[in-house]
Amino acid sequence: MQISNLSAPDATISAEQVEYIAWYVYKNAGIVLGPEKRYLMQGRLTSLCRTAGYASIAELLQALSGKAPQIETMVIDSLTTHETSWFRDQKPFSAMEKVILPRLADSKNNKTLNIWCAACSTGQEAYSIAMLMKEVGLFDGWNVCIHAIDISQKVINQAKTGEYSHLEVGRGLPERYMAKYFNQNGNTWHIKSEIRRMVQFSTFRLNADSYSLGPFDLVFCRNVLIYFDAETKTRILTNIHKTLMPGGLLMIGGSEVILGLDDLYEQVRIQDVTVYANKESHTVWQNVAA
Ligand SMILES: C[S@@+](CC[C@H](N)C(=O)[O-])C[C@H]1O[C@@H](n2cnc3c(N)ncnc32)[C@H](O)[C@@H]1O
Repeated sequence: MQISNLSAPDATISAEQVEYIAWYVYKNAGIVLGPEKRYLMQGRLTSLCRTAGYASIAELLQALSGKAPQIETMVIDSLTTHETSWFRDQKPFSAMEKVILPRLADSKNNKTLNIWCAACSTGQEAYSIAMLMKEVGLFDGWNVCIHAIDISQKVINQAKTGEYSHLEVGRGLPERYMAKYFNQNGNTWHIKSEIRRMVQFSTFRLNADSYSLGPFDLVFCRNVLIYFDAETKTRILTNIHKTLMPGGLLMIGGSEVILGLDDLYEQVRIQDVTVYANKESHTVWQNVAA
């Protein structure tokens, strides 16, 4: 199985293998990879062959079909896209700061706030929420938990360390936050424990049949719905709805929309951002400042 460092893995990939990989990823992650993703599969699986010591994509797929330990996780890690940044798209975080968090601070008598960051990648989104909560200063003495999940074990492992390279912190993290919430060690930036302990990371598949999670006041499920087909997306959004508290809100990505679930969600515009309120309790978010 182990190949010499000098020989490059054989990157040949047949149409049949493309079909098998697409089937495998859909079955396990719910992600649709069409034939046009052939070069993405080829590039990522070749690099996986190099790190995992397989001589060819064919050999890797043979191990996958034989359920070789670790390979399933590695293939899903390599074929999921983990693009992320701090305070991504900014506007949702501004809506959180100006409207959503103050309203939650006013309305929650039990001083408990549960937030779900679904598909959190390497942790920037979850830690951005945690830092913002510190900044607004309305939750001192509260019981705040940000539950962050991703299907990829690799990104969850990195997120848990709270360590980021100079390049990674350079993607959207304001310098003020860098100085206030991180310790620098050479080229590595380490998130401070006051922020780290607000977030709990674990692996979880959004495409699971049902969830035993929640209830949450806020769910972030951003920039992941685009990878699913209509059927999987509907199942995920229906399952997320069941995790929302009365008055709970769902935030999705700027380029994502929810269609055909009007009985579950009510669209609310908050500061130029469309968010989705649990329809059972839509009055909570009616008349929020635009
Ligand atoms: C493009 S990133 C988005 C990260 C973050 N939400 C953001 O907006 O910056 C998409 C993430 O979704 C995760 N993902 C893909 N399919 C998933 C699934 N079925 N269940 C849970 N996470 C999934 C990927 O591993 C990846 O880290």
